[in-house]
Amino acid sequence: MKNIEIKTKLKVCTMDELTAEEKELVEIAKHQTENSYCPYSRFHVGAAAKLDNGVIIRGANQENAAYPSGLCAERTTLFAAGANYPEVPVNTLCIACFTGGHFTETPGAPCGACRQVMIETEHRYGKPMKVILYGEKEIFIFENAADLMPVGFFSEDLKG
Ligand code: THU
Repeated sequence: MKNIEIKTKLKVCTMDELTAEEKELVEIAKHQTENSYCPYSRFHVGAAAKLDNGVIIRGANQENAAYPSGLCAERTTLFAAGANYPEVPVNTLCIACFTGGHFTETPGAPCGACRQVMIETEHRYGKPMKVILYGEKEIFIFENAADLMPVGFFSEDLKG
């Protein structure tokens, strides 16, 4: 038996360290929290994805009285991107979380199911998808989705 250690990497920064393009995406993700439908959790998540053709896809979490029928902001966004621009790689995905009357100080961590969808989105286009997680105090930047999901499950794994 051998033990292995898996490390990941991310940048921690503030708004003034972002590029103009990144800032724009953050502002859209923040704005999108207003479109969250979250009467059950009151946790508003907004998302924005910039595609390689420059189009920005907007999303927000959508809840349901049948709880598991709801969907996270990341997946509403990535699925809308795939449904509308199936041939265009997603360049950057950004999310922001708003609860209790303010944006969270530290970035919200995407759930495992969203990470799984992120790595497949990245994998299907064969290009890194940057992920920006917004927090009022600090912002996390992952240069690619795989850094959020080591030992992921991919289509190749279905072949056994
Ligand atoms: N949620 C997201 O939209 N994205 C995340 O990364 C974490 C959680 C949503 C799901 C649910 O509507 C609410 O936040 C509380 O879990």
